[in-house]
Amino acid sequence: MRQKIVAGNWKMNTTPAEGEALAKAVVAASSEVKGVTLILGVPFTHLCPVSKAIAGSDVKLSAQDCSAHDKGAYTGEVAASMIAPFGAGYVILGHSERREYHGEDSAILNEKMKQAYANGLAPIYCVGEKLEEREAGKHFDVVTKQIEEVVFNLSDEQFDKLVVAYEPVWAIGTGKTATADQAQEIHAHIRKVLASKFGAKAENTPILYGGSCKPSNAAEIFSKADVDGGLIGGAALKAEDFIAIAKAF
Ligand code: PGA
Repeated sequence: MRQKIVAGNWKMNTTPAEGEALAKAVVAASSEVKGVTLILGVPFTHLCPVSKAIAGSDVKLSAQDCSAHDKGAYTGEVAASMIAPFGAGYVILGHSERREYHGEDSAILNEKMKQAYANGLAPIYCVGEKLEEREAGKHFDVVTKQIEEVVFNLSDEQFDKLVVAYEPVWAIGTGKTATADQAQEIHAHIRKVLASKFGAKAENTPILYGGSCKPSNAAEIFSKADVDGGLIGGAALKAEDFIAIAKAF
């Protein structure tokens, strides 16, 4: 059976102290969640306090990005090798906000993937189309390209650790959610594209849905065969909502 995952993407929210308190609240309620891996995707500055807050629990830690370089004169960048020592097991890569505001393309993301794997971080690789792309019926092609140009460069061994997140850009932070059927349709497509390269292994890849996922709609979305969990932005900032989403399976 595929791993079920509910991952929070805190983005640039909370002070370190607030983040620590949020992580503690998630840990305190995490015993209510069965059979679902909980991951907290926190700002770099929060890796230290949050790693302490989740120590001894089953809650996992993720960064939201890493540098494409291993070290050196890259002011303001944070290397994967600086993230891993905090006990982080994951890194979100290719989020649409990074693609849009920081010009991240497949060439950069290939380098970031290499850095992540070299340092033992499993990528949560985000794909998804913009509104105009969906309206033009190009959403299947867009995600296919985002996968082919990056995921297809992974070795079989690397692929085994990959998590994919489908996040339609038009649904992120907008309150608009893809319908459960829209999510299933494209998740099944993503799995088919993955299988065209990696064969039956694609059956084991967790594919998460992201985009205005909340306690009220999570159960319906998670009920679909190829939806293995969620990447949660806004609703991950309240422990109660985050846990309610994880209990929606
Ligand atoms: P949202 O963000 O849940 O606030 O829409 C999801 C994401 O961008 O990961």
